[in-house]
Amino acid sequence: MEDVAISIEKVSVSYGTNEAVKQVSMDIPIKKVTAFIGPSGCGKTTLLRTLNRMNDEIEGCKVEGRLMMSDTDLLSTEVDPVALRKKVGMVFQKPNPFPTSIFENVAFGPKIHGMDSDKLDDLVERCLKDAALWEEVHDRLDDSAMSLSGGQQQRLCIARALSVEPEIILMDEPTSALDPIATTKIEQLISELKSKYTVIIVTHNMQQAARISDYTGFMYIGELVEFGETAQIFEKPNEELTENYLTGRFG
Ligand SMILES: Nc1ncnc2c1ncn2[C@@H]1O[C@H](COP(=O)(O)OP(=O)(O)OP(=O)(O)O)[C@@H](O)[C@H]1O
Ligand SMILES: [Mg+2]
Repeated sequence: MEDVAISIEKVSVSYGTNEAVKQVSMDIPIKKVTAFIGPSGCGKTTLLRTLNRMNDEIEGCKVEGRLMMSDTDLLSTEVDPVALRKKVGMVFQKPNPFPTSIFENVAFGPKIHGMDSDKLDDLVERCLKDAALWEEVHDRLDDSAMSLSGGQQQRLCIARALSVEPEIILMDEPTSALDPIATTKIEQLISELKSKYTVIIVTHNMQQAARISDYTGFMYIGELVEFGETAQIFEKPNEELTENYLTGRFG
């Protein structure tokens, strides 16, 4: 389907004998924000990490099912995880800039992928603008990334993710370490990013999911209980379990 970024088909993920994700199926819509919500330990991070094969790095982790992007199954052994991560980028819970300059953080990926050095200035500027950070750092690009505030570091990490021109950006609780003002900035940014990118975000903040996502998947003990348009999930969930969670009756 043309409007689907990734089709998740009966994906199960186990760590040893612990099945953390159970037969999850859903179509992630292209150029929309999709939120994964659910109580701690329900498998949100595991499912997110599966989408760019980060679980490959974990010993004893087994992934089954199919992840179709166009006609390619991303789980196939023929797909190179490094190349995949260029298409499907990730932003982590804790900002993790490289201990290099602001400029180098953004230029690093494109350099590795062989971009001409005379194009780097423009690219770094564009990514920092797209990440809503340019105004704050344009006169200090050679400063260490570590000199930035937490919220700025997180936007730098987003700029870094954008630098290799991904199609999909995965974000695992990207604002949980930030104050309300920095959180608002990242939320605005996410809403803007969907004009160009497909965004999938894990969040524990229900208001955040309601504010910024177009689609929401509610997970519970490894299963996808319900997936649909965010307004429907929040206002008229089909499942009692979803309603109980959203009204704070558990989790
Ligand atoms: N690296 C790992 N090795 C073994 N088990 C793991 C690993 N990562 C996660 N798990 C297990 O998989 C299950 C799902 O964990 P996951 O981190 O995906 O949950 P989550 O929904 O992201 O939770 P939280 O909201 O607390 O971040 C849990 O039972 C967890 O213990
Ligand atoms: Mg998690």
